[in-house]
Amino acid sequence: MKLRAWMLALAGLGAATAVAAQDLKSPSADQYVPRLGDIMSAAQTRHQKLWLAGKAQNWELAAYELRQLKASLIEAAVLYSGIPVSNVTTLEPSLQSTSDAIDAKEGRKFAKALGDLTEGCNGCHRSMKRSFVVMKVPSDPQPFANQQFAPQARP
Ligand code: HEC
Repeated sequence: MKLRAWMLALAGLGAATAVAAQDLKSPSADQYVPRLGDIMSAAQTRHQKLWLAGKAQNWELAAYELRQLKASLIEAAVLYSGIPVSNVTTLEPSLQSTSDAIDAKEGRKFAKALGDLTEGCNGCHRSMKRSFVVMKVPSDPQPFANQQFAPQARP
């Protein structure tokens, strides 16, 4: 199979599963557009590092990871116009309270704010037919401890 045929075959596969596919900007050779799943994988890493930094009371690192996480979410909303803006703006209060807790160096407030923020992640996943991507406040420092892998009970 020629390269072009491969790419078309792959694109066809993606179209069947990607919700936001109709709104994807197709990357041109001079402009690389990260896939939404890749942006989200970065968000997952930052979400977990944010928790680890907060737990270790390394507030400077936590502030940095929060900025990075915000940047990922903004990038997702800007690049993928299929994401309703309200799904991103509903996260604003919990992003703000996480930031406030970091500034105040308050571990308990931080834990609460991160829990609210994590609910915001799931709220958008549910509304975008991705309810099987379930984020949680990490239970331990292992990689992917911030995701639930057991299937959800059907409503
Ligand atoms: C505004 C909507 C929205 C918000 C907010 C959001 N996500 Fe997502 N996320 C998505 C969509 C849509 C997908 C599915 C992407 C796809 O199908 O390619 C996704 C997929 C994911 C995935 C699966 C990626 C993979 O390839 O395995 C992870 C992990 C994830 N999100 C983490 C997060 C975390 C952590 C947060 C909160 C800090 C978050 N998301 C907030 C819309 C959102």
